[in-house]
Amino acid sequence: MPSIDATRDRLARVGQDHLLAFAGELSPAQLTRLCAQIDALDLERVPAWVDKYVRSGATRAGGGAIEPAQYFPVDPDARRRPWDRGAALGAGEALLRAGKVACFTVAGGQGSRLGYDGPKGCYPVGAVTDKPLFRVFAEGILATSRRYDAPVPWYVMTSPLNHDATVAFFKTHDHFGLPEPDVMFFQQGAMPSFDMATGRILLADKDSVATNPDGHGGAIRALAKSGAIEDMQRRGVEHVSYFQVDNPSVRVADPVFLGLHASAPDSSGEFSSKMVPKTDPDEKVGVFGVVDGTLQVVEYSDLPRELATQKGEDGRLKFLCGNVAIHAVGVAFLEKLAGDPDFELPFHRAVKKVAQVDASGARVDPGEPNAVKLEKFIFDAIGLAKSSIIVETDRVEEFAPVKNAQGTDSVQTSKALQTERAARWLERAGARVPRDAHGVCECLLEISPLTALDAEQLGERLASGKVNADHIRAGQQVSL
Ligand code: UTP
Repeated sequence: MPSIDATRDRLARVGQDHLLAFAGELSPAQLTRLCAQIDALDLERVPAWVDKYVRSGATRAGGGAIEPAQYFPVDPDARRRPWDRGAALGAGEALLRAGKVACFTVAGGQGSRLGYDGPKGCYPVGAVTDKPLFRVFAEGILATSRRYDAPVPWYVMTSPLNHDATVAFFKTHDHFGLPEPDVMFFQQGAMPSFDMATGRILLADKDSVATNPDGHGGAIRALAKSGAIEDMQRRGVEHVSYFQVDNPSVRVADPVFLGLHASAPDSSGEFSSKMVPKTDPDEKVGVFGVVDGTLQVVEYSDLPRELATQKGEDGRLKFLCGNVAIHAVGVAFLEKLAGDPDFELPFHRAVKKVAQVDASGARVDPGEPNAVKLEKFIFDAIGLAKSSIIVETDRVEEFAPVKNAQGTDSVQTSKALQTERAARWLERAGARVPRDAHGVCECLLEISPLTALDAEQLGERLASGKVNADHIRAGQQVSL
């Protein structure tokens, strides 16, 4: 390990020597820990990051003309772009049966909007059972593995801030019934958090630097560094089904999507995405757009209002394709990117409140945002794929995110969406669900992925008598 003098010199060269301002007050063990934390930072790049991202505001990459993205419509018979659902399903099921698909969940975020004390994946979300997000996904993976009689390994990315708690949670719950060797955890990298006004790295405490996980885009390097890509190759995994930790309605490995991703003529099988149609121009999701000929996700704040509100001949928004962070990614593509020494995703700047110790050593819990956090986004890799497809999905079927403690995208809205989806599946199978005059379900419903992964499977289970959904009454909570 470098000496404290060497660390001090490195810091001075990049204008960050205040990080050792309290060194004289620390015990030898504290000082060693602080120096190790500093030495692990990519200090030499700090001045460039500060210039490029901290001092200046965010600007849209490219800055050129934006065109709406093409997509596969949810209805394969749509005149706009017919496609063969049966062939896609067959191709995806073949991949699953051959054990060539893994699931990949990014769970390293801080979940600050939710304000939950623990990894977000431990948060109770089941509409009736309150089961945690991790259990919901685990049941989906187990059910998929049983359905196709093949292993579906699961890679979970954590951050240095929540790794131990996440691993302990899985252990306590016996990996939710999944074979332990098929669940892999690895940590993403961390970035220092910067003072918004000065560009100085913040001290979280006299003996520790304030850091934040480096964004879900940190996944690509972390997958390689941790050995996860090699592990995938050893297992014969060719594609990963990527999803975020906050969406309990995600289909963890959708054979139709995977089939299109791997075999549609205009897909390179490198990086594909699902989208839900935006209905409200003010909805705060990024949209897929083609900027200067390259497909990318345009953040909602970067889409000019006159474009965001434009409608097409079909009456839908022209910039329709809302990014719901569900992707299929080729393992060969991940390996290619991670193996390229020049590969680098851009950072995005987020202004946040970060607790710190100030120059006098006093703890400050800021009432207003004081810090810039830098994060990479996985979807910035889309433009690096030879060709990339987008597949429409139904919002109720697949998107019930839990982001906030209250209001939009909270556990309340997620439970209502989970219930609505369950109701649709039940009604499609002939069951009756009580609804009020506005069509809103008058009960809470939850269908475990172990009971059914989709409406067809639920129909089969009901028809065979394996599942009974008779007599659901208003006010009831029903978990199937
Ligand atoms: P969000 O953008 O919702 O961020 O992450 P967050 O950190 O979880 O929540 P807030 O903004 O602090 O409230 C979307 C997904 O990306 C993962 C999250 O765990 C979530 O699944 N993520 C985010 C990471 O894995 N690492 C990160 O550095 C950031």
